[in-house]
Amino acid sequence: MEKRVDPEDGAAYTYEELASFYKGKYKKAAIEAYWESCKPVKTKGKGKGKGASEPKAKAKGKAKAKAEPKAKGKAKAKAEPKAKVKAKAKAKAKKTLPAKTFKVCVCGGAGGIGQPLSMLMAMDPNVSELSVFDLSVAMVPPAGVAADLSHLEKRAAVKGYVMEVGKNPIDHTEECLTGCDLVLIPAGMPRKPGMTRDDLFKVNADIAKGLVEACAKYCPNAIIALIVNPVNSIVPAMAELWKKKGLDNKKIVGVTTLDCVRANKFVAEMTGKSARFVNVPVVGGHAGVTILPLFSQVAACKGIDADKIPDLDKRVQDAGTEVVNAKGGKGSATLSMAYAGARLGSSILSGLAGRRRVECAYVASDVEEGFPYFTSKVVFGDKGVMKVLPVGKLNEHETKRMEEAKAQLKTEIDTGLKYAESNSFA
Ligand code: NAD
Ligand code: LMR
Repeated sequence: MEKRVDPEDGAAYTYEELASFYKGKYKKAAIEAYWESCKPVKTKGKGKGKGASEPKAKAKGKAKAKAEPKAKGKAKAKAEPKAKVKAKAKAKAKKTLPAKTFKVCVCGGAGGIGQPLSMLMAMDPNVSELSVFDLSVAMVPPAGVAADLSHLEKRAAVKGYVMEVGKNPIDHTEECLTGCDLVLIPAGMPRKPGMTRDDLFKVNADIAKGLVEACAKYCPNAIIALIVNPVNSIVPAMAELWKKKGLDNKKIVGVTTLDCVRANKFVAEMTGKSARFVNVPVVGGHAGVTILPLFSQVAACKGIDADKIPDLDKRVQDAGTEVVNAKGGKGSATLSMAYAGARLGSSILSGLAGRRRVECAYVASDVEEGFPYFTSKVVFGDKGVMKVLPVGKLNEHETKRMEEAKAQLKTEIDTGLKYAESNSFA
């Protein structure tokens, strides 16, 4: 049986294996076009090994063909003969060979989120260099996390960087941050039971400021993905400080992916559908009532009784607290957050490599009047945030919830804007 190498993971598959993996995500014609763009395994018995040792630029270039079926291929596949679709997929793949690979830094990389997030980013085929940055008081020295990760059979070269507590990141991060394309920041205090995310602002804003200020100096073109809470206030604060420094505040991205991950999982559990085929947009912000899942826009939710939606909505809003309480004072979501952060991180890198991806994120926005920062679907491309999409049609429940979300979000954005007014980057 013929096998071909999927450039996404370098492994060899039969057509049936590949088709069953992508079934439901892409139309048949698009999957066939992608199969055509995959390199056949020529030598018997060498299958996966051969694929994995292919020159990277070639392998990555072909991966582009997969973005095509998703973005445009689908519509075209219907109207055009198969051969033409295949030829187009190939031509496109050649034209858009990515020229580079990426350097990523995880600040707080030895923490609860930081360690698994660093691992997942080290496994991303788009990552060639990974910096793990943390304090000397972290639970594991960052050099240890880096040594550990450097043994994965992946291409990323991993290096740890440590800073003494109380020092200023700008004085200790030049090598760590220089050349970074993406900086993921989970550095900061997590909640304990009884706390709101807002309670973390005072301590975490200053931690974020030190790190983002260093990014402004050493990697001003990088995308800065802020995981640290409260996202609703920290992102406006850092984005406005970034702007004050004369930089593009669209580079500052608030990570709200975990809300989508949770909504997808809960819908899948309720409907019996695979979570792979559920994609709930969650808009607004990332705290309590500002977390607004739009179930009415999701085909998989059509079978859910309308009277069950308010509880489902509430479960998504309270999911962070569910984890905080279950951990009994020993932290908040770390593993699911690392999964979600890596999903966003990998989408951002795919975008930078020229393969557009859509993810919900909390960014500078004009989709809702009076809300300079808002979560909605964002198109990530070769310049980072390419387009911020409107929230789309809401049903009656969601319209009411939007008002509630906006009332809280307004106050939390203002907290961030005030911080930016009274501070500035070096
Ligand atoms: P943690 O305490 O386990 O890890 C935080 C790490 O940051 C520690 O290793 C600490 O040493 C490090 N750190 C602190 N100050 C630093 C600095 N100036 N420079 C470099 N590193 C520094 O906490 P965690 O569970 O990983 O959570 C981190 C943050 O992420 C919290 O604020 C939490 O609320 C937030 N969070 C956000 C989401 C989200 O959806 N956006 C989800 C979960 C957690
Ligand atoms: C989450 O949603 O899990 C995070 O924001 C952490 C928290 O404090 O709930």
